[in-house]
Amino acid sequence: MKPLELAKKRYSTKRYDRSKKIPQEKIEELKAVLHLTPSSINIQPWKFTFVSNTEVKTQLAAASLHNEGKINQADLLIVFSVADDLEEFQKTVNQLPDGLRDWYNNIKQTTPESDVKVWLAKQVYIALGVALSTAIALGLDSTPMEGIEPDKYADILNMKAYKPILAMAVGYRSEDDKYQPSVMPKSRRPKEDVIETVS
Ligand SMILES: Cc1cc2nc3c(=O)[nH]c(=O)nc-3n(C[C@H](O)[C@H](O)[C@H](O)COP(=O)(O)O)c2cc1C
Repeated sequence: MKPLELAKKRYSTKRYDRSKKIPQEKIEELKAVLHLTPSSINIQPWKFTFVSNTEVKTQLAAASLHNEGKINQADLLIVFSVADDLEEFQKTVNQLPDGLRDWYNNIKQTTPESDVKVWLAKQVYIALGVALSTAIALGLDSTPMEGIEPDKYADILNMKAYKPILAMAVGYRSEDDKYQPSVMPKSRRPKEDVIETVS
């Protein structure tokens, strides 16, 4: 399928078919692609947690506001976390190539910590975009979600140095999901308002 066809097929799924399981090779491919996500200066300030375990997924669903139902129905939940304890993250950075480490140390020395954290979180959103595009290319439906409770997620996943900021449900759409594009056409601002061409 071509990129535009995939973009039209992808939508934020609101109802999943509980009975459909994702083949393990597709999950492995999603992991491998996420691992290759690009980031500024190749800093890679993330952790991607793949949750298929029903018990843990149910606990996370209960900490996901209006997203609880979707997470319980979907076969897989991916949690996207960002480095939050910068002292701890420094140990990871110190193992990265010299040039990258120097760049990062320079940014850290010249930028307020709160701004460094915002910059690191932006990198994680790139990974969400990569995951959304990859999922639909693999024939999987998904829902990006900011509607989660990060502190509760961190407790459930026993995460200390990283902070969960996003989640993505993955599975197969329910036939009766009225939000799928064949039922509810995609809604976007006019193309000419958002795309400019300078030629
Ligand atoms: C960063 C981000 C966070 C989102 N959070 C949620 C969410 O918590 N729950 C939800 O149902 N949809 C969520 N969405 C889905 C958006 O509402 C959706 O992408 C938008 O309305 C466009 O619709 P489409 O994805 O079906 O094309 C989120 C999307 C993004 C990109």
